[in-house]
Amino acid sequence: MSQTKNILLVSYSQTGQLTRLAESFIKPLQNQKDINIEHLHISPVKAYPFPWGFTQFFNTFPETVLLKPEPIEPLKFKQEKYDLIILAYTVWFLSPSQPITAFLQSEQAKKVLKDTPVITLIGCRNMWLMAQEKVKSLLKEADSQLIGNVVKVDQSNDWASFITTPLWMLTGKKKVGNLPSAGIAESEIQDAERFGIKILQSFSENQALDSNIFRGMGAVKIDEKLMMSEKAGRRSFYLWGKLLIKCGQISPSFRLFVLYFYIVFLIILILTVVPLSALIKSLLKPLLKNKLEAQKRYFAEPSGE
Ligand SMILES: Cc1cc2nc3c(=O)[nH]c(=O)nc-3n(C[C@H](O)[C@H](O)[C@H](O)COP(=O)(O)O)c2cc1C
Repeated sequence: MSQTKNILLVSYSQTGQLTRLAESFIKPLQNQKDINIEHLHISPVKAYPFPWGFTQFFNTFPETVLLKPEPIEPLKFKQEKYDLIILAYTVWFLSPSQPITAFLQSEQAKKVLKDTPVITLIGCRNMWLMAQEKVKSLLKEADSQLIGNVVKVDQSNDWASFITTPLWMLTGKKKVGNLPSAGIAESEIQDAERFGIKILQSFSENQALDSNIFRGMGAVKIDEKLMMSEKAGRRSFYLWGKLLIKCGQISPSFRLFVLYFYIVFLIILILTVVPLSALIKSLLKPLLKNKLEAQKRYFAEPSGE
């Protein structure tokens, strides 16, 4: 290694799951003579509850999707510049979690992000494509360069986690009755180490940090069934989010009334639109093959599947 490398790891986790994922990712880089790692845990000024109350959980969605986060505590960096920033985040309503959005929008963060390579590390249920689109544009606004993305999702299938993840968020219990456990499998958390090893290798061999770093490593897996649902979800959240904020300006209780209506509408939508769009997609697959492949490649960038 030609000189000491400074790495900044940024994260915000409620249950500690993302923290463990991030720690596994950076483990190979720790206690290395020429590598300094600084872990910045973002602190919201007012802590978000965990477990969440039903109303507060859903009521955070308008500001989350419209990227109007609650404030975070001032950021403290030990260095002025870093060789690499690892941004570990969870997804809230197809968007980055509010504390991560607040970080990316802050002037302090923009200074360290400018002209710096960034790797995103996502730990979520399974719907992260639209959140990453938002993170990509925030990183672009900060003039930083996204070189890699690693994603780990919940272990159970789409339908089981549609029940188990919200139950975990609302009760604090990862395992309820006979349902499979919510959250990311332990083996997947351990697997994140592979990517830290690759970064260490790149530094040791004095290779340039660019988008080749995680190529061919299976850093992300694109579920093509979810591409259409995520796009439909993003549109719905955006329109209803705007409407709910307007309703709140009339009166907070009016906002809640419309929110409850939307929750019912949303559940019906998910139970019908998601399987329907998956069915349409599988029927049209032969015709859409090239388009779907191109979209999959786009969403898999910059790491590739
Ligand atoms: C308010 C809220 C909304 C969420 N929305 C999504 C989502 O849209 N897509 C998804 O894959 N996971 C979603 N999740 C799950 C989180 O991404 C994450 O897996 C979970 O909160 C555990 O993260 P932790 O490390 O902060 O505890 C949501 C969680 C919360 C609290």
